[in-house]
Amino acid sequence: MTFKRHTVTSALPYANGPVHIGHLAGVYVPADIYVRFLRLQRKDVLFICGSDELGVPITLRAKKEGVTPQDVVDRYHQMIKNSFEQFGISFDHYSRTSSPVHWETSSEFFKTLYNKGVFTEEVREQYFDEANQQFLADRYIQGTCPHCGFDAAYGDQCENCGSSLSPSDLIEPKSMLSGQPPVLKSTKHWYLPMDEYENWLKRYILEGHQEWKTNVFGQCKSWIDQGLKPRAMTRDLDWGVPVPLDDAEGKVLYVWFDAPIGYISATKEWAAANNTEWEPYWKDQDTRLVHFIGKDNIVFHCIIFPVILHAHGDYIVPDNVPANEFLNLEGDKISTSRNWAVWLHEYLEEFPGKEDVLRYVLCANAPETKDNDFTWKEFQARNNNELLAIFGNFINRAVVLTHKYFQGKVPEAGTMFDLDQQVISRLEQYPDQIADSLQNFRFREALIQMMEVARMGNKFLADTEPWKVIKQDEVRVGTILNISLQIAATLAIIASPFLPRTCKKLQDMLNLQDLSWSDAGNSNLISAAHQLNKPELLFERIEDAQVEQQIAKLEASKAENQTVEVSTSKAEISFEDFTKMDIRIGKVLKAEKVHKSKKLLKLQIDTGLDQRTIVSGIAQHYTPEQVVGKQVTILINLAPRKIMGIDSQGMVLMAENSDGTLSFLQPDQEVNPGGEVS
Ligand code: MF3
Ligand code: ZN
Repeated sequence: MTFKRHTVTSALPYANGPVHIGHLAGVYVPADIYVRFLRLQRKDVLFICGSDELGVPITLRAKKEGVTPQDVVDRYHQMIKNSFEQFGISFDHYSRTSSPVHWETSSEFFKTLYNKGVFTEEVREQYFDEANQQFLADRYIQGTCPHCGFDAAYGDQCENCGSSLSPSDLIEPKSMLSGQPPVLKSTKHWYLPMDEYENWLKRYILEGHQEWKTNVFGQCKSWIDQGLKPRAMTRDLDWGVPVPLDDAEGKVLYVWFDAPIGYISATKEWAAANNTEWEPYWKDQDTRLVHFIGKDNIVFHCIIFPVILHAHGDYIVPDNVPANEFLNLEGDKISTSRNWAVWLHEYLEEFPGKEDVLRYVLCANAPETKDNDFTWKEFQARNNNELLAIFGNFINRAVVLTHKYFQGKVPEAGTMFDLDQQVISRLEQYPDQIADSLQNFRFREALIQMMEVARMGNKFLADTEPWKVIKQDEVRVGTILNISLQIAATLAIIASPFLPRTCKKLQDMLNLQDLSWSDAGNSNLISAAHQLNKPELLFERIEDAQVEQQIAKLEASKAENQTVEVSTSKAEISFEDFTKMDIRIGKVLKAEKVHKSKKLLKLQIDTGLDQRTIVSGIAQHYTPEQVVGKQVTILINLAPRKIMGIDSQGMVLMAENSDGTLSFLQPDQEVNPGGEVS
């Protein structure tokens, strides 16, 4: 089927924190590459996003920070919007789910389904916090996991063993608002009877969309095979779109009901601002709807939202949902609460002008089929060895030599040799191949092929050596450079979805405008006598010091977090696990502040076995003078780590008071350094 227009969405990020590289690699970079590619093909495409500002995730954050939910969303919406813009994610419209259009749209949607008799009304018992007089969202209830015994599992999930739970599964549940055991109380909600749509879903996905990525198709199949249950589309909460019914006071739409409708609301806003119609983008059968999301959103976009759209009746359903897996960072899961992330707004500040480098690395390493890992060393290597050494080097040589030998005027191509013909015929083939990969959401593959074109250009110059040939045969050099510039011009097109800023510079250098995908591969794209502009460097080397600084920053945040995350009790361990730890009494010999860190002290410690350095996150609680001479308890067989460039060998054990102050663990009588704790 050929589509007349494309509605492309990327997951609405929760406005409860800034965007990090995991979001970018999973969702926004691939979506932006795809959309830029469609635009280059001169397709009618609309790229939609916005902030997800309702629901429990926002209220939890507000509680944690002691501010209102409105404060939270206002702050993060601005921050997220700005950093996407600076980074070059080319949304046609970036909205937010607190917008009036969205409230109206989602409310109307609910009413339509209600009037059609789609929902079932059910009264069920749910946990209620008596002290606070409110029903508790699943995330607000903690208790012991029935599967692994972890005693701080949430009502929807155990973060220790990963099982998904419902609040009634928890042993000894407690309200996180009051700390008291909640009581069960009846409440009415409106349910989407998913079970009634099973056959439709089977036809839609299992028969109709076998082309979906295997990770996506597999998850859908397993949901459908397990049998679907009715899902409540409303919640007892005071932060959300009110349920538009008379007997629904204090109830709001479930965030996973309203948020995807946010794509539609945003489209309405865009259409109004551009004096055009929104309906074709959501209702015409010849519109292709594609959702870019992370894997944790699959069920909502492939199953629940399509059922909502289908039940409504007027809407098209997603034609593809190319969800990605997760990106890890330096071997560990990205975590907002542990500050284990590379934040987009910080990257933009610390690597100005290097937006394309991050896009490139995140695409080259995207978690398309399995989880993947981002490391700063790889970031550096891909910049220096690929972007700079291959792409940048090729372009620079082609343009500089044209200026040097032909005053920047594209020379004529003369007689072609076999090598020339081969290069040209390969150049002609690449754009279709790359288009095929992009159309099928294989962005890494497309990126590799794009770089092969740059590699081919680089090798062509290395093989033909125009800088030597110029002494005897200027006409031949003209041919070589003409071919090289044709390659450069094709690169300016096919690389631009991946490297938009770089290709803008490249097109300026080549003095070309309004290129479209169909121009790529043309061996006469840039004509003889066409005047080039001055050469400009496209990439810079990234030095060791820059990436070492980033690694040190991550390590410091790890060290600073070690003392924080102990408040809930941890899962059971065996006696053997315990005996693996070599804990001893030591004495602090020297202490000094760590340069550029507020929280860290560098301690010199007599362990009885040796004298060693330990970096400890206690500088906000003790001055160096206060700790010298103290007896301390240390874990001495912790694997050594580099923290802010210092080798730290072990960990000083501290007790944390409820107000966050730290104190040393000391024996109540003097014990010689080296004394074992067991
Ligand atoms: N805010 C959700 C998340 O970050 C994604 C919402 S996508 C939407 O996981 F379509 F529902 F908006
Ligand atoms: Zn568990």
